[in-house]
Amino acid sequence: MKINHISQLNSNAKVVIFSFLQDAYFENHLQKVSSDFELNFDLLHQDFKADLKEFQVVYSPQNQKVILLGLGKNPNSSDVIKAFRTLFLKQKSKLPNEVTIDVQNLSETMIEYVVIGSMLGGYDLDLYKTEDKKTFPVFEKEGIINILSTSENAEKSIIRGKAISKTQMQIFDLMNAPANKKTPYTLSKWAVDSGKKFNYSVTILEKQQLKSQKLDALLAVGQGSEHPPVLIIMEYKSPEAKQKIGLVGKGVTFDTGGISIKSSTNLHLMKSDMGGAAAVFGTIELAAKLKLPVHLIGIVPACENSVDGKSFKPSDVIGSYSGKTIEIIDTDAEGRLILADGLNYMVKNYNPDVMIDLATLTGSCVATLGYHAAGMFTNNDNLAQNLTKAADQTGERLWRLPLWDIYKEDITSDIADVRNYSGKPMAGAISATKFLEVFTENHQNWAHLDIAGTAFGDTEFAPQRAGTSFGVRLLLEFLENMD
Ligand code: BES
Ligand code: ZN
Ligand code: ZN
Repeated sequence: MKINHISQLNSNAKVVIFSFLQDAYFENHLQKVSSDFELNFDLLHQDFKADLKEFQVVYSPQNQKVILLGLGKNPNSSDVIKAFRTLFLKQKSKLPNEVTIDVQNLSETMIEYVVIGSMLGGYDLDLYKTEDKKTFPVFEKEGIINILSTSENAEKSIIRGKAISKTQMQIFDLMNAPANKKTPYTLSKWAVDSGKKFNYSVTILEKQQLKSQKLDALLAVGQGSEHPPVLIIMEYKSPEAKQKIGLVGKGVTFDTGGISIKSSTNLHLMKSDMGGAAAVFGTIELAAKLKLPVHLIGIVPACENSVDGKSFKPSDVIGSYSGKTIEIIDTDAEGRLILADGLNYMVKNYNPDVMIDLATLTGSCVATLGYHAAGMFTNNDNLAQNLTKAADQTGERLWRLPLWDIYKEDITSDIADVRNYSGKPMAGAISATKFLEVFTENHQNWAHLDIAGTAFGDTEFAPQRAGTSFGVRLLLEFLENMD
């Protein structure tokens, strides 16, 4: 599929999409479209109010299909993306291979969101279907979306929108892949391929190297699976980079809970327990693709938390990369264990200026914030502010939760340096973060994002829950706002 920039409407365009803001220009805009296409303004005005995601399909006397799409009053980036994604998702079976979107009334940055939304509308979940697979001309090879704009920078926005949405769809595929098609090795292969394609370096530490370098917490979680754990290290460095940013993502390809086994209700959703890893992958790929002036290190500890005779057990005391010992209370609190090694590896080997980890870490965070926001934990107010600013911009909501030292009591152990669970079903997202903090070597510019509720969402774009790529646009925005 091609996305072209055009500055004049082709007179034989078959389908033209106009988007409308509920601003002072609304009526004039509707008037203009009505007269250009010989439509009845009064009838249109009666039915179409330009509410967010409202759309109206009409036909001109010249047999053109005109689609009016509402964007509401003051849409943010995610509103615009969702409006276009919904429109394309619902209309794609009725569209010919070429459509034109008039974006002349939108700002340059909005053009990027129009492109992202339109492209994502073509995303299909049916990767593994052998029957009833549908194809839609506009999203096939010969498909064309024309972006009608006279703005000078439209081309740049189109290129960015295309780049971002392509990576996002790769991340959707990774998130939606079932556990039998997604192992720690698959994740490492994804990173290696992406690194080759976009010119950044990727190093994989396999089981033997994990042993010799003593990533004992990652090894313990992975020891019950036939798919061995790996540590994936990615590095992208722009010659203009001023700051070094370290990203760490939880990559559990399936979380059965281990010996502290989960109940079977919704257990299938645990194929998405690598949402943190996916966010890190997407961000690094995009930073490299868009050549951002940053130095980025991504670390993904990846493993499968399985039930087996060889699995680690509650009561085990295990070691870790940091040298600290950990008493295992619950093998289902595995994310914090592999992140302990990932974070400590990052600090000791790369000493980044800023360190952010993302993880589908706790059910407690889902109980607190639901599916609409991720929990943010940091002791650095400046970092909290910058992340919140980026989140407000992209619509990937973050809500700050506390990290008071009193919660350390929950993870003190009688027999080891620390334990992995308090045993009480209270403040779970906070005590999990207090656990992570132990392994950050007191890093002063660290934030943990608990994305358990947001990575695999309940959205309008899929009948069941599906990958969202939460964190990718957020981190991209954060990186681009850095000085
Ligand atoms: N992967 C889960 C957290 C999770 C829950 C992610 C729901 C997405 C949706 C994590 O490994 C886990 O099992 N956490 C436990 C920790 C508990 C045993 C201390 C939880 O939150 O229940
Ligand atoms: Zn778990
Ligand atoms: Zn987990």
